[in-house]
Amino acid sequence: MGLYSRRSLILGYTSLVLLSASANAAILPYITREAEYNTECKTCPRVLCPNQLYYGTGDTFNATCWTRGTRIIDGNIWLKSEAGCYVTQYDVTEWEGDYTSDLAYCGKASEERHITEEDATLKYKTECRICPDLTCDNVAYLSEDTDLTLTCWTDQGQLIIDDPYHFKTTNNCYVARKNLYSKPDITYLDYCGPIPLLEPEKHFNENGTSDVNKRDALPAPLPDDMGVQYLINVTVGEEYAYCRSCPEETCKSKKRYQFNQEVWLQCTENFNGTWWSESTDFCWVKNSDFWESPEGDNYKFPTCSLFPGDEDLRSH
Ligand SMILES: *[C@@H]1O[C@H](CO)[C@@H](O)[C@H](O)[C@H]1NC(C)=O
Ligand SMILES: *[C@@H]1O[C@H](CO)[C@@H](O)[C@H](O)[C@H]1NC(C)=O
Ligand SMILES: *[C@@H]1O[C@H](CO)[C@@H](O)[C@H](O)[C@H]1NC(C)=O
Ligand SMILES: *[C@@H]1O[C@H](CO)[C@@H](O)[C@H](O)[C@H]1NC(C)=O
Repeated sequence: MGLYSRRSLILGYTSLVLLSASANAAILPYITREAEYNTECKTCPRVLCPNQLYYGTGDTFNATCWTRGTRIIDGNIWLKSEAGCYVTQYDVTEWEGDYTSDLAYCGKASEERHITEEDATLKYKTECRICPDLTCDNVAYLSEDTDLTLTCWTDQGQLIIDDPYHFKTTNNCYVARKNLYSKPDITYLDYCGPIPLLEPEKHFNENGTSDVNKRDALPAPLPDDMGVQYLINVTVGEEYAYCRSCPEETCKSKKRYQFNQEVWLQCTENFNGTWWSESTDFCWVKNSDFWESPEGDNYKFPTCSLFPGDEDLRSH
């Protein structure tokens, strides 16, 4: 090969590079975005994927490529942040252009969902919350014996009696470990990562437009007194406290607690002027039998009859 032909080869290669560069001129190396709400940056572009980190409202990040994931309200496009994790485009300030032509595609492999799963069953009435703290709103009220599939764990949740561990379920909400029959083996589960305060108004499934079971539609408006479900511990302040099959003095005694015995309660309710609580033995004790006042001392302690299966309590 002569000198001339070698040079023309090099020139040809150079013009090819220039040509492809101009064809892709619209593709930007990154697009800076601002989080419109607290938003989770996930290890894969699905709401059930664990969090790598989160962006608070107003935080900015550089989106380097786009991919497809869980549909959130009006689209299934997720952005990969320069940190290497994925954010739904729905949670960030709107981009005038089109991510799919203005950014590179992250590649087929980025669309895969990698999550861990483990079965568990609830022992007590439980609230499944959008984030694992009492300040977070409920997504679902679950009765005892509900079967769940857990996807990840956190030790950064609300302390329930003595246990801060919570699990995210496949319904995309968190339950307390204290409310399960047994402690799941967390060595088989992912860590959920850092979890921001999330609000259903900003992270719900408006008109059912998001993927099923990912961001659920808001439940029917809840009564104001329906707070967060959690277990509390109280102590018997009478010589004996009878735990009855229903919330009335005439109901059969199922169990007798002793003076100063510690009792865990699931919920409370006022029946005809008298407050009763359902204990973790699934029987009823008058609140006046305890040193504490479960109906008044505890932030948002819930009403029993609002749980599925307990609606007919008032007819006792
Ligand atoms: C985005 O990347 C540019 C260029 O590297 C950098 O100057 C800027 O600080 C980055 N923005 C954010 C929010 O990280
Ligand atoms: C029950 O609550 C009291 C405070 O009211 C606390 O001192 C005690 O450690 C709790 N017991 C358990 C087992 O968490
Ligand atoms: C949901 O439905 C309402 C009423 O039809 C409509 O105004 C609203 O835009 C819808 N939202 C979405 C995200 O489709
Ligand atoms: C409520 O209390 C009143 C009197 O205090 C009693 O007459 C009535 O039978 C009670 N109702 C129920 C449902 O217990």
